[in-house]
Amino acid sequence: MLDSLSRPLHDLRISITDRCNFRCVYCMPREVFGRDFAFMDRAELLTFEEIERIARLFVAAGVEKIRLTGGEPLLRRDVEKLIAMLAGIDGLRDLALTTNGVLLTREKAKALAEAGLKRITISLDAIDDATFRRVTDASFGAADVLRAIDNAAAAGLAPVKIDAVLKRGLNEREILPLAKQFRGTGHIVRFIEFMDVGSSNRWRMDEVVPGSEVLETISREWPLEPIAPAYAGEVAERWRYADGAGEIGVITSVTRPFCGACTRARLSADGELFTCLFASSGRDLRALVRSGADDDAIRNVITSVWRTRDDRYSELRADLPSSRKVEMWHIGG
Ligand code: GTP
Ligand code: 5AD
Ligand code: SF4
Ligand code: SF4
Repeated sequence: MLDSLSRPLHDLRISITDRCNFRCVYCMPREVFGRDFAFMDRAELLTFEEIERIARLFVAAGVEKIRLTGGEPLLRRDVEKLIAMLAGIDGLRDLALTTNGVLLTREKAKALAEAGLKRITISLDAIDDATFRRVTDASFGAADVLRAIDNAAAAGLAPVKIDAVLKRGLNEREILPLAKQFRGTGHIVRFIEFMDVGSSNRWRMDEVVPGSEVLETISREWPLEPIAPAYAGEVAERWRYADGAGEIGVITSVTRPFCGACTRARLSADGELFTCLFASSGRDLRALVRSGADDDAIRNVITSVWRTRDDRYSELRADLPSSRKVEMWHIGG
């Protein structure tokens, strides 16, 4: 099944909660997401059964990889039960989760791995604790996240991918400390360009740290060589250390967009289907499911949404009028 630009549907990213225990300045700035912010009610969230049913229909439509995101997905109680339900879907090849890590205890990591989670990505934007706290604006420290990475590895979820968003003037001095921390560990740190997702983070082009600058900075210290993508349409560009100390990645969604190979659909915690990270509206699958629609009817909607998809926001960014977009924590990173 191809969309209108001939791109197949391969990945489904499912946000399972819109809440988060961090307030990262580039995602949920506290002045917008304060005490009075109205998050979703429990009844609005898809239940595990609803998620599993929708996921199964997506797998039947071609999806091979599912990633759970949020908000912070580990805030959803018993998430390992959902992992076990999804792991049982025939035809699903990869099941991953993206987390900020602070709730990833040894026991939680073990429970997730035993339930069938295959891979984990942990966000970490700074090694320096003061910088980490400035970025995440919460009561946790960088050490909490480093411990989570160890816990994930101990549970067999290694290699761990570490995602670091860079914002000019905030944490670009952390490029080398982050690279150094994970060199030789087998874990893969990926540097992400600050993106204009949503309408709350006051994005500015001059605050983007280009992937090319990351590569120059690191290769001055430790020479790098490019390596081939692990799979077609991989978001990160991979580089390895010439001295054999492992690999890093850059995700250049702003300076070198990759919409041409974008095979991702996104499901929000309240059951809306989005075909682009930068969409302004989605298709309400929850209403369909709760109205008693049968599998065929839901599958038809998924198919028709994908077949008519023409999104390529990052490639068009400069030419588009600014519009109200869905927030990252809503649609899932
Ligand atoms: P692997 O499955 O390990 O390759 O990871 P992934 O490529 O699915 O990466 P991950 O989910 O960790 O995404 C990393 C980051 O890349 C996200 O948090 C986003 O910032 C960015 N990203 C992922 N998908 C897209 C996309 O479709 N469009 C854009 N513009 N950015 C994306
Ligand atoms: N730009 C780039 N990445 C972002 N993320 C959230 N907001 C942004 C943004 N504005 C990504 C980060 C984080 C994940 C959960 O979402 O990678 O690690
Ligand atoms: Fe939470 Fe991740 Fe957004 Fe930070 S980037 S506020 S950890 S959802
Ligand atoms: Fe895919 Fe939209 Fe990101 Fe382009 S901007 S890669 S179409 S999600």
